[in-house]
Amino acid sequence: MNPVIMPPPAHDQATRLREFVLEKKDSVSRSKITGMRSVSILSGKGGVGKSNLAVNLALALADQGMKVMLLDADLGLANIDILFGVVPKFNLGHVLRGEKELSDILFQVGERLTIIPGGAGLRELADIDDQRQAWMIDRLSFLENETDVLLLDTSAGLHKNVLAFATASDLSILLTTPEPTAIRDSYSVLKSLWQSTGGNVSVGLVVNMASDANEAEMVADRILSAANQFLGCEVPYLGCILWDAAIRDSVRRRKPLLLAGLNTVSVPCFKLLAGKILEPRQEAEGAARNIGEESFLRRLSSQMAKRGD
Ligand SMILES: Nc1ncnc2c1ncn2[C@@H]1O[C@H](COP(=O)(O)OP(=O)(O)O)[C@@H](O)[C@H]1O
Ligand SMILES: [Mg+2]
Repeated sequence: MNPVIMPPPAHDQATRLREFVLEKKDSVSRSKITGMRSVSILSGKGGVGKSNLAVNLALALADQGMKVMLLDADLGLANIDILFGVVPKFNLGHVLRGEKELSDILFQVGERLTIIPGGAGLRELADIDDQRQAWMIDRLSFLENETDVLLLDTSAGLHKNVLAFATASDLSILLTTPEPTAIRDSYSVLKSLWQSTGGNVSVGLVVNMASDANEAEMVADRILSAANQFLGCEVPYLGCILWDAAIRDSVRRRKPLLLAGLNTVSVPCFKLLAGKILEPRQEAEGAARNIGEESFLRRLSSQMAKRGD
């Protein structure tokens, strides 16, 4: 085996990570959900607001007492760090190559919110040998016990990696805007997702940049009626995020809206959606799925192996 990629001693890794996590353990209420809830954010088209949703939803969940990990899993345009105005030096790739420990790459950005910069590491995870992958999954598994909600910000479209994230997640949020192009592309993603998983996926729709709740409902109805008619699937509408100039300002200022303490029109939308995600599984996630008791990371690993290159 290449000595550069030898795993660091498991004991050191676990001890440091445990110290890191215990530091943050305070008033967290884990009673609302059992086990870690994994939620991927998907879209057909780019620029519909996935990263801003990921960031503000993560903050809203943390505000509701959840311990949240935000995994920047957009392999093309990772930009969660920019939205938070932080500059992480390392990512999962460094852990994978044995150059850094997991605790070195985690970036704490709020009391209960930690970013995991995915970087090239997530792509590499799909390509490494089984033994190495098992080692990596083992390292990451530790986080599953210490996290209430894992949010994944993914790339637009249904690239094989995004499909693996969606299939492994407890819930996928499909995000669209009222634009006809976004509507068409989100329907295409829903169709591919549904057909490639044989319907064994939990997905819900969110409409972003709506001028009001009625417009959002009309958009959702167009997509979901078509999905019901042509694909035979019942996808729940999870809610909307209203168009809000303050989101644009927050991006320019590199300080997420929900950190700024403002109360603009979209703020209650993020909070409502956070509450929806914490609802009992059946309500928020539609039809029950056969994903068993396996951990998210093990499901992800087997999905990545299945999808190959
Ligand atoms: N609800 C909203 N109201 C107004 N602008 C928004 C809203 N959501 C996102 N935006 C803006 O849309 C742009 C794209 O958002 P981003 O989160 O980067 O999209 P994606 O991750 O899907 O590519 C950003 O300039 C952001 O400020
Ligand atoms: Mg993005």
